Amino acid sequence: MKEINLSNISKSIFLIAVILILGCSKGSEPKKYKIGFSQCISTDDWRKSMDHEMKVEASLNAEIDLTIFQANGDIKLQNSQIEFMLSSGFDVIIVSPLRSEPLVPIIEKAFDKGVPIIIVDRKINSQKFTAYIGANNMDVGRNAANYIASQNEKEINVLEIKGGDDSSPVLERHSGFNQIVSNEPKITVCYSIKDGDVNRRIPQILDSLNVIPINYVYAFNDEIAYNTWKIAKSKGVEKNIKFIGVDGLNGDNNGIQLVQSGILAASILYPTGGDEAIKIAMKILRNENVPKNNILSTTIIDHRNAEIMKNQYDKIKKHQNDIEIQQQKIKKQEETYITQSKTLKLVLGLLIISFILITVVIYSLSIIRRKKRQLEVSNKKILVQRDQIKASNNARLNFFTGLSHEFKTPITLILSSIESIIEDSIKRDFKLKNELGLIFNNSKRLLRLINQLLDFRKVEDRKFILRASETNIFNFTNSIYKDFEREALKHNIDFQLHSNNEDLLVYIDRNLMDKVFFNLLSNAFKFTPSNGKITIDIIDEKKTNFVHIHFKDSGIGIPESELKNVFKPFFQGSNNNNPSSGIGLHISKEFIDLHKGKIEIKSNNGVEIIITLYKGKTHLNSNQIVFESDNLESPNLNFITDYDDDFTPVILNKNESERFSILIIEDNSDLVKFLRNKLSQVYEIHESDGHDGIEKAFEIIPDIIICDVNLPIKNGFEICEILKKDLRTSHIPTIILTALSNKESYIKGLESGADLYLTKPFSLSILFQSVKTLLYNREKLRYYYINNIHKLNENHDFIATEQDFLHKMNAIIGVNLDNSNFTVEILAEELGISRVQLYRKIKAILDIKVSDYIQNIRLEKAEEMLKNNLDLSISEIAYSTGFSSQTYFSTSFKVKFGVTPKRFRDKL
Ligand code: FRU
Repeated sequence: MKEINLSNISKSIFLIAVILILGCSKGSEPKKYKIGFSQCISTDDWRKSMDHEMKVEASLNAEIDLTIFQANGDIKLQNSQIEFMLSSGFDVIIVSPLRSEPLVPIIEKAFDKGVPIIIVDRKINSQKFTAYIGANNMDVGRNAANYIASQNEKEINVLEIKGGDDSSPVLERHSGFNQIVSNEPKITVCYSIKDGDVNRRIPQILDSLNVIPINYVYAFNDEIAYNTWKIAKSKGVEKNIKFIGVDGLNGDNNGIQLVQSGILAASILYPTGGDEAIKIAMKILRNENVPKNNILSTTIIDHRNAEIMKNQYDKIKKHQNDIEIQQQKIKKQEETYITQSKTLKLVLGLLIISFILITVVIYSLSIIRRKKRQLEVSNKKILVQRDQIKASNNARLNFFTGLSHEFKTPITLILSSIESIIEDSIKRDFKLKNELGLIFNNSKRLLRLINQLLDFRKVEDRKFILRASETNIFNFTNSIYKDFEREALKHNIDFQLHSNNEDLLVYIDRNLMDKVFFNLLSNAFKFTPSNGKITIDIIDEKKTNFVHIHFKDSGIGIPESELKNVFKPFFQGSNNNNPSSGIGLHISKEFIDLHKGKIEIKSNNGVEIIITLYKGKTHLNSNQIVFESDNLESPNLNFITDYDDDFTPVILNKNESERFSILIIEDNSDLVKFLRNKLSQVYEIHESDGHDGIEKAFEIIPDIIICDVNLPIKNGFEICEILKKDLRTSHIPTIILTALSNKESYIKGLESGADLYLTKPFSLSILFQSVKTLLYNREKLRYYYINNIHKLNENHDFIATEQDFLHKMNAIIGVNLDNSNFTVEILAEELGISRVQLYRKIKAILDIKVSDYIQNIRLEKAEEMLKNNLDLSISEIAYSTGFSSQTYFSTSFKVKFGVTPKRFRDKL
């Protein structure tokens, strides 16, 4: 599956969202034109009005970004302002120059660079500019002169007050005025002074009015005219003179109001051109044609039109105010709009991001869920695999443990036989054959195990090639059957072979099939107890192409739930305590599969294994068919040596009845035989293959029990524990004999009450010594019991079970002391065991007959009564201690104490 990197997806989507938002906000911004204006002077109202007009005009156009720089009458500052605008990428530069000459280089530079440059009001001494805007100052001068000339006076004396510098308006207003005056004889310009001289000269001039009477003052602007009027007023001559100014601004103390109030006779309108300059700039920016010189019209304002002018200007001002208010509102709304649109975009952006994130989260969750499911599935698989590995490991461990155990017994026997051969070879030559037989048999068994191991390996590697030859199946089976006949005989097993067609020929690989049949019969014998039944039935299904071979035993069987696993490698039945490799049935199935046959198992009162084989050879490939003669010798060495037949028992040096008895509980018949041979020289030997170990122990009450661990039905530990807990057998020393040599098993052995724990391979001499030691210890204990019968009730050193047993027995005897009918049978019955068991137990632990034991107690009680109950007669004491006749009492008392009861009492 293709992996998708989620973090990369979310990153990219997030980036797209941000770009989207930023893109939107940028797209809504209108393109702005940067227009810069350098204002030469900033103190007077005319200049302020110019600035204001520009701002109002610019505000009407959203594209304009207007910056006004104030030079404050500083020509250098103005130069650097233009330089700055030039270098800062202003789209249009507007200049109202202070003087005509100094700014020419920077303005020409700007013009040469192609930056639109607009000159306002005052001119420069160059034509390198884009446009000029301003009124005609010649006209201003002419208008003023014409106004004076139009008056009725016959002779008019004029005082001219010029501007303080040589700017173009100063020069042109003077020149235009003179142009008219020079042609008017009635007008005489008596004085022409500069603005800077006003305060010094005007008072002088006014003081000499009687000499030179001045009728008109023509001032460069309204401000100068007003200042002059104020001086005249201070001298009380203001009514004698008419004042004319220039500019005609609207507002307090400006031209129109001064005309209205009669202070000025007239003011020549001189428009600032601020709004026009912005309009021209926009035209240039829009690439429209713009005339180079844009001349504004001028007019005279006097008492006739001042009112109208004021009203008009007021209206304009009001309009401008309204526009400004509107502008501010629009600006506010714009700001609100921008804020809202920003918020909206932000919200939109966040919504997009949230949507994207939710999508990513949902997508991630589905991926995580899918991954989780995949993980769960693979986890389950891993767990199943782990369990399988564990099971297989356990199976392998069990396999190797089982196999090791299987190896140990033959090795023990081989070792012990060799040990025995060395010890006995000098004494008895005839025994040698027996020992060698055992060595041979066990070596053969080891060989078979090893072969099985190798077969398993080969099966696992699929290395077997079928070599089938035409074979009489009955004869073939019969040859293997014969190998097991002796075994059947030994255990009294009803072992039979039948066939409904003894002539039936089947194609089989004799070598492989021999292993299968041998294995099936070995198993049958392993799990079938003595007196059981094993049958082989060969059934030729005549109407079909098949033959069935049934192997049936009356053994312990296999639980139904485990049947499906029996052909798996390392299978161990839960009810099977016998150690085994667990590969025999697996190999058998593989071999039958090679024959394209079938192997099935049933379990009902034992195990039944059914092999189904094809008749004929059509099911085989030609390379699987070989020719073999009919000689059906088993490919395995058919050399089962039953050395029992040749064994001559050693001459016992004791009577049968005097010998100690040993019960051997062991299912390995070779080992049993071996032990019997060795131990029977000294001890009386009883055997059990494990099926009836406990029963035999109860029945025989042997002096020693030697018990294997791995046994059918119950293991050695369980058997030992049962025997040690039972009153009848608790006193019997038990030796656990096993291949299990780990610490846990050892402890388990001791816990089960075993007296000794011998691990295979063990040395025969050690076993002999161990048996001897245990019997010696038992003797010591017995000696102690016998000599302490009277103390038994107080003594705590005895083995608890034995002590309990004796307590119980003593109590029963005590109660029945005066009962002459009380017998050993009654005592045994009350103890819950048989008379023989009681007899053997008491004999074992006290080496005394039970009847003698009871008699002893009666006599000891009688002795005590003779001493302490002097008021009772001898016959009374005899009856109260259970003697039916006084004579028998006296005789018995004399046997035990050496004196008659009468003599005993007399001596007191
Ligand atoms: C203001 C002013 C005006 C005049 C103009 C001429 O500074 O003196 O009164 O009309 O400049 O440049």
